[in-house]
Amino acid sequence: MKFFIDTADLDEIRDALSMGVLDGVTTNPSLMARAGRKDTDKLLKEICDLVEGPVSGEVVALDAAGMIKEGKRLSGLSEHLVVKIPLTIDGLKATRALSDEGIPVNLTLCFTVSQALLAAKAGAAYVSPFVGRLDDISQDGMGLIEDIVEVYEKYEIGTEIIVASVRHPDHVVRAALLGADIATIPHKVIKQLVQHPLTDQGIAAFMKDWNKLQG
Ligand code: G3P
Repeated sequence: MKFFIDTADLDEIRDALSMGVLDGVTTNPSLMARAGRKDTDKLLKEICDLVEGPVSGEVVALDAAGMIKEGKRLSGLSEHLVVKIPLTIDGLKATRALSDEGIPVNLTLCFTVSQALLAAKAGAAYVSPFVGRLDDISQDGMGLIEDIVEVYEKYEIGTEIIVASVRHPDHVVRAALLGADIATIPHKVIKQLVQHPLTDQGIAAFMKDWNKLQG
């Protein structure tokens, strides 16, 4: 399974890269706002140059023609840029047009199997089901991933599933168990993935014994 980081913060991206676990990045307008950089195209290019893997940059146009125009501009920033588009009727039209031109699209804000099926039909390279936001409204986020994986496997669909809106390490582990292609993970959760109290206790005990030996 590939690990993406869900952020537009360069320091967080650098940190995950230096841990050796990063395959790509996903951003969205909220994450861009949190990063606080108004030169968003420049920031996306910097992220692409740093990561040299798929980097999703989201369009803000809501109509198909606007999405296509913006998608082409974003795609021109880097060979690594993936155009992120919301999963609407206009979004599907824009996805078909961009993917026909060889531009990879990540269809985002996916909350149902039917949306995921349409994403694949329209030629999306990636689809992003949001598990945390479904859990937030007492629906089963990981159940959606299970269903999409089953349908995609049944029809040998090549669209890659990005498990998004990840809230905690268990989302990542369950995504891996289900065979999802990618999890896009906040920086905080990437760090939580490595933590275990027995690891810390083990290190403390080893150090204590080592220091005893040294006198
Ligand atoms: O990248 C989109 C997605 O991961 C957003 O997550 O935490 O805002 O629900 P969240």
